[in-house]
Amino acid sequence: MSGHSAEQRRVLEWAEGQRRDYPWRRTRDPWLVLVAEVMLQQTQADRVVAHYERFTADHPTPQSCAAAPLDVVLRAWSGLGYPRRARNLRRSAQLVVERHDGVVPDDLDALLDLPGVGPYTARAVLAFAYERDVAVVDTNTGRVLARRAGERLTPARAQALADEWVPAGDGWAWNQGLLDLGALRCRPVDPACTGCPVRRTCAWARAGRPEPDPATRSAGVSVRQAPFAGSARQARGRLVRALGDGPVGLDEVADRVGWTDRSSEEVAAMVASLVADGLVHVRSGRVVLGSSTDD
Ligand code: ADE
Repeated sequence: MSGHSAEQRRVLEWAEGQRRDYPWRRTRDPWLVLVAEVMLQQTQADRVVAHYERFTADHPTPQSCAAAPLDVVLRAWSGLGYPRRARNLRRSAQLVVERHDGVVPDDLDALLDLPGVGPYTARAVLAFAYERDVAVVDTNTGRVLARRAGERLTPARAQALADEWVPAGDGWAWNQGLLDLGALRCRPVDPACTGCPVRRTCAWARAGRPEPDPATRSAGVSVRQAPFAGSARQARGRLVRALGDGPVGLDEVADRVGWTDRSSEEVAAMVASLVADGLVHVRSGRVVLGSSTDD
């Protein structure tokens, strides 16, 4: 830590003292890290743990995921929601086998070429599997960056600030630490500034936390989701889950997803969106898991 600033040392010390123990933090296997980070894109870490354990037991390598039929991968994903992520992950596994000898690449551009892998996930693989000194900007670290800067940030500005803040040689611990800082302390509402390792250098805290909060709509910071109950997202997840036990007749779909109060057009549109995403197909009046071609 000799070349680090006092602020960087404070953050690393704080991070080490309270690091949350997650299974994906005990591995450097780039496939396992990729699986975890795709799951973590839209799901809270504590909820991801059991799904991660199960999915990686079924598909411990890109080879096994690439070779599995889509409906098998969707079943292994079941319960996490956003099933398109599972389809993209399987496609990524196939590309890793085809293009990279079955090893998730140690290269930003090659990672960004994989479906479902954006700037956050690509850098997370580099930092957490390959221990490279790149910075990950997501909703948690994005909040820390904007508040510390005291202004709402563009994506390019947030990435630049984040990159120059990484202490050389400590990319892994640094990024995990900032994720924890954002999740545990620099929370969206009611941040715990007292005792925060960034407090002395945080423009927003020093100014007395004036409104508006600079993190609001800053790069990487997610906006509040629309209510999940009754949403098409919920219905899609329920239908994919039900299909894991076998095909469902088109006339049973509304019942199975709790949409008996919806019009038949709404139900049909929800099914059509899953067909368009290649997650299900319709055969002889029944909805079946997987695409008809299974590409
Ligand atoms: N959210 C995204 N990536 C994470 C990680 N590696 N650990 C905990 N939460 C995360």
